[in-house]
Amino acid sequence: MTPIPTLSPTRALQLGASAWFVAATLGQWAFVLFILAFFGGHTLGGDLAGLNDKPHVTGYVPGDTFGNLQFIAHALMGGIVTFSGTWQLIPALRRRWPHIHRWNGRLFLGISLLGALSGLYLTWIRGSRLGTGSNVSITLNGLLILVFATMAWRSALKRDFVRHRRHALRAFLLVNGVWFLRIGIMLAGLVLAPLGVEINYQGVVFVGVSFASWVLPLAVLELYLRVERSQRAAPRYAMGGTLGVLALLILTGSAAAVAFMWLPALSPGSAP
Ligand code: HEM
Repeated sequence: MTPIPTLSPTRALQLGASAWFVAATLGQWAFVLFILAFFGGHTLGGDLAGLNDKPHVTGYVPGDTFGNLQFIAHALMGGIVTFSGTWQLIPALRRRWPHIHRWNGRLFLGISLLGALSGLYLTWIRGSRLGTGSNVSITLNGLLILVFATMAWRSALKRDFVRHRRHALRAFLLVNGVWFLRIGIMLAGLVLAPLGVEINYQGVVFVGVSFASWVLPLAVLELYLRVERSQRAAPRYAMGGTLGVLALLILTGSAAAVAFMWLPALSPGSAP
């Protein structure tokens, strides 16, 4: 009789991590495509007023040259940093082309710092605020990006690669906080809309998802790093399974974001 193949705990963890990475990459790149098409398209086409075809907090304001520049540069930097981050996580690329990892790493960390600073500017100086709860959340998210991007950079310069990996993974998740927020709101909407519950910017659901968009990924990462260090089988299976479930949620939320948020914004006249 041929033996039934079994999944080792290490393999289960690897499979879960790979599934998470593939799902996150698909969802993040859909966000990148939307940013390029919408912000890149209107900017290159010289149609800045068209940026207001979809709702923003402040958006394009005629006459406010510096504020508009910050707004557009911030969104475009968001696209670049999201795309750049993906490549840093691919082990084969780090091993075979370490110089690409180093240069792309400088780009990722540099734009993360600039993006977080311009986000803080938009929130606190330009005054693009949705409500107290979500302001506190995005501000903490932005400050933590500054902390962990700096620590990831410093530990790389010191060649302390164990610390570098941990800080860089935290920076990656924090930079993607705004993408997780969109996925989270879509998932909340899929559950709550059929129940007739509306999501508004000051309400508990939006503020809760805002905090969850960066606290939850950081918490899952800390668990993952612990499980990696542990030799026990059960936590490896459990973490592998959890990452698999999260991958499915990410795919669902991303598909909903494409269908209900990003595609409608790209079709003039049908934006929500
Ligand atoms: C580094 C990661 C970040 C990325 C990838 C990112 C990405 C984006 C994108 C794509 C937009 C345009 C959204 C739209 O209207 O379609 C945006 C808007 C905005 N971001 Fe960020 N962001 C990041 C960090 C931050 C941080 C840390 C803050 C605040 C502390 C922030 C504050 C804002 C504000 C206030 C707007 C709205 C501007 C408006 O609608 O007038 N962002 N961001």
